[in-house]
Amino acid sequence: MAKDVIIACDFPSREQTLDFLDRFSGQKPFVKIGMELFYGAGPQIVREIKERGHRIFLDLKLHDIPNTVKKAMTVLSALDVDICNLHAAGTRAMMEAALEGLTRPDGTRPLLIAVTQLTSTDQGAMERDLLIEKPLDQVVRHYARTAAAAGLDGVVCSCLEAGQIHEACGESFLTVTPGVRFAGGDVGDQKRVATPERARELGSDYIVVGRPITAAEDPVEAWERCCREFLGK
Ligand code: C5P
Repeated sequence: MAKDVIIACDFPSREQTLDFLDRFSGQKPFVKIGMELFYGAGPQIVREIKERGHRIFLDLKLHDIPNTVKKAMTVLSALDVDICNLHAAGTRAMMEAALEGLTRPDGTRPLLIAVTQLTSTDQGAMERDLLIEKPLDQVVRHYARTAAAAGLDGVVCSCLEAGQIHEACGESFLTVTPGVRFAGGDVGDQKRVATPERARELGSDYIVVGRPITAAEDPVEAWERCCREFLGK
């Protein structure tokens, strides 16, 4: 798939989400549906947005025993999403089972990407709470390599990690990167941010952008600016 901008539709309700998408008359941005909207509005919201012609990244971050994840992935695959994800911490066996569950009888499937260590986890928390004592960037690279070995298509990571992930796992291994802000824009709770242009230079394949678009006075204009800067056209 080509590089693209994915809008994080972090809205609490179906109505707010559809009102937001209505502003893009005739244009069909790639959207991310997360836990809040999925658990609040149910799977029907995925079908509805798909019917409107959008590509969808369903960000539910599955993590359970392999058999449970496999069966859940079969359900998500039937929703005809384009990308879904899980936690690499679930182990290689879980990721392989997920791929099996995701693959439809005709051999097609959504792309599957892994969360390595959440960007909210820092070195201290990893050592204290998870008893993982290696450096964080080494852990992220190891999880990415395990995901690649399991056959996954890529990982969610910071723009700043995209280069080392490509080095470790190959250029075609996808890096899907949140933490994007316009130059001079409000950073909010994100810590390690990059502009869309910088994300392109760093080798991100997809940038996930929420508030810089959803909270903009003119979201369509903000999305177009993001596409221009990230895609360089
Ligand atoms: O509003 P903002 O641009 O910060 O939104 C970023 C989106 O990416 C949110 O949906 C957030 O949950 C998600 N995300 C993230 N960092 C990660 C994984 C996902 O910001 N490591």
